[in-house]
Amino acid sequence: MLPTATDLEPRRELLATAQALNASGLNQGTSGNASLRIEGGLLVTPTSLPYAQMGPHDLVALDLQGRPLVEGQRRPSSEWRLHADILRRRSEVHAVVHCHSTSATALACHGRGIPPFHYMVVVAGGADVRCAPYALFGTQDFSDLALQALQDRQAALLAHHGQVALGASLAQALALAIEIETLARMYLQACTLGEPPELSGAAIAQVAEQMQRRHYGIAASGPG
Ligand code: 13P
Repeated sequence: MLPTATDLEPRRELLATAQALNASGLNQGTSGNASLRIEGGLLVTPTSLPYAQMGPHDLVALDLQGRPLVEGQRRPSSEWRLHADILRRRSEVHAVVHCHSTSATALACHGRGIPPFHYMVVVAGGADVRCAPYALFGTQDFSDLALQALQDRQAALLAHHGQVALGASLAQALALAIEIETLARMYLQACTLGEPPELSGAAIAQVAEQMQRRHYGIAASGPG
């Protein structure tokens, strides 16, 4: 059963995830946002409020069209559309994390995704992590382009902006965002010696099989 708009526990969990984004160095200031699927919609972080000052009742409950589920709430994240569109189109996803982590954003500023230079790219669902073309934050275009880049994937980079990671739980989405940042950092480091060679399609398929056989990686680590 999904949590409801007024349950306290999911609010605490979402707040802890949002604060962990800053504590882990993935985010700074008021950038980034996070959401959790609830009965009838989503719970999302408010716009422009520093995470350290946020309490459980500052989180905003919306239906998937963006209409408030609770009266007298704060303004939702400017990216509520991105969160709602993902949760509407991807029934397996229950949590979304968006952040401006440094290395992922550095790559995205060149419009580049993460190629299959390392076997762990497979934790995002395929042979690479795509980069969505640039669009203005908070717009339907931004959400549409992100959704396209997320096709058959659990994460994407966002040109001149940052990254977005999905999960069956907040723990999974956060762990994946951390992994994406780590892969981006490793890739940038590897690029200092030139473009690293890519794993073949066959090698990537073997990794995917091995991960499935061993229940290995992000999907196996979270509670969802
Ligand atoms: P919000 O404070 O509105 O969530 O915006 C932060 C952000 O990262 C926009 O992409």
